[in-house]
Amino acid sequence: MLHPDRWMSLCGALAMLCVIGCHRSEPPQFVISETAKDLSAELQQAVQAEMVKQTGTFLKPKMLIADGDSHQDLGRGQAVYQERCVQCHGVSGDGNGPSAKYMYPRPRDYRKGIFKFASTPYGYRPLRDDLVRTIRQGIRGTSMPGFNLLPEADVQSVVDYVLTLGRRGELERQVIDMADSDSAVNSDEVKSDLIPAVLTRWSEAEAAEVLPASPQPRFTPEFVERGKKAFLTRGCSKCHGEDGRGQTADNRGADAWGFQTRAADLTSGMLHGGNRPIDIYRRIYNGINGTPMPSFANVLKEEPETVWDLVAYVLSLTDKRRRGDIPTPGAIKPYVPAK
Ligand code: HEC
Ligand code: HEC
Repeated sequence: MLHPDRWMSLCGALAMLCVIGCHRSEPPQFVISETAKDLSAELQQAVQAEMVKQTGTFLKPKMLIADGDSHQDLGRGQAVYQERCVQCHGVSGDGNGPSAKYMYPRPRDYRKGIFKFASTPYGYRPLRDDLVRTIRQGIRGTSMPGFNLLPEADVQSVVDYVLTLGRRGELERQVIDMADSDSAVNSDEVKSDLIPAVLTRWSEAEAAEVLPASPQPRFTPEFVERGKKAFLTRGCSKCHGEDGRGQTADNRGADAWGFQTRAADLTSGMLHGGNRPIDIYRRIYNGINGTPMPSFANVLKEEPETVWDLVAYVLSLTDKRRRGDIPTPGAIKPYVPAK
């Protein structure tokens, strides 16, 4: 027979074990987008039910892909994401993870399908390879780390997980719009119209890679000189300032995700989109999606040489500080608006 006191401590120990072992925290859930907040509770539920039907749940996600296409192991992608990305990019890929609030620029909200550093024209989705490159290299000068040491299969599967979240977000937005305008969610229409529309934008992009119209020249000081002239006369200095530092009075804009953004300080030595000449060529020619950096494709279509001149000039600006040419702090040439 156990002494009553012993019974008590045994029960206590069991209770303790239960507190430690039996209590499981709930798995995270995808949260519905804030754009649904004006819908009635029933319509919100209908949207959520439709989303589960088409794209699964956090623990069992389904990736929207075209018939006949395949994807990597989403379980693996989810594990990598959970371990390495979620604290910034958030459970639903809304860019609102626990450590996102204090970052500038903010971690990407994937749900609009808009990505900045693409090899495709302005307004297009990026290539899959663009995402792979960004994840491997990180985004210099921002909080986005590089993951070059991850095994290839991890990188490829986390790309598919990012695409899973992105396409899910794009679809959700449209299902919310449908619920809003029709006061109902029509599952057949989601399948026949909305999902193909999401997928087409991604497949269009794969066929739209922008390649320079003339080969990259070997840059000489003449390129830099001509580039500087173009920089001052083709509208770049309007946003980036005459010295490329973005110290202009009206250098304040908004991005597609609703945050403030500024024209880059091109002398910072940290080009976010990469510092290969082709990267800079594409930033100028294609513009930067979701930001005020416009595409110069129309203006400079017939002048690929001018784009290369600008590339040479941007490269020389980027290198300025490394060459010991350190600008004094503060606005050197205050922006004077044109009369
Ligand atoms: C410490 C925070 C942080 C972590 C961790 C992080 N990111 Fe990011 N990520 C960012 C920030 C900040 C940006 C936005 C940079 C910008 O706008 O220039 C970004 C942007 C991106 C982009 C968008 C690139 C584009 O062209 O628009 C992708 C894709 C991305 N991250 C994927 C990932 C993946 C995958 C992981 C995990 C393997 C990850 N990130 C981990 C902060 C983070
Ligand atoms: C309407 C304002 C505007 C004009 C005009 C403009 N830019 Fe930009 N530019 C921006 C903004 C804003 C960004 C930062 C985008 C972001 O958030 O990453 C940027 C970024 C860039 C970058 C990328 C820097 C990086 O970190 O990778 C380059 C290169 C660049 N601009 C060059 C140019 C050149 C060259 C011209 C003229 C042909 C030009 N810009 C005209 C607003 C402008």
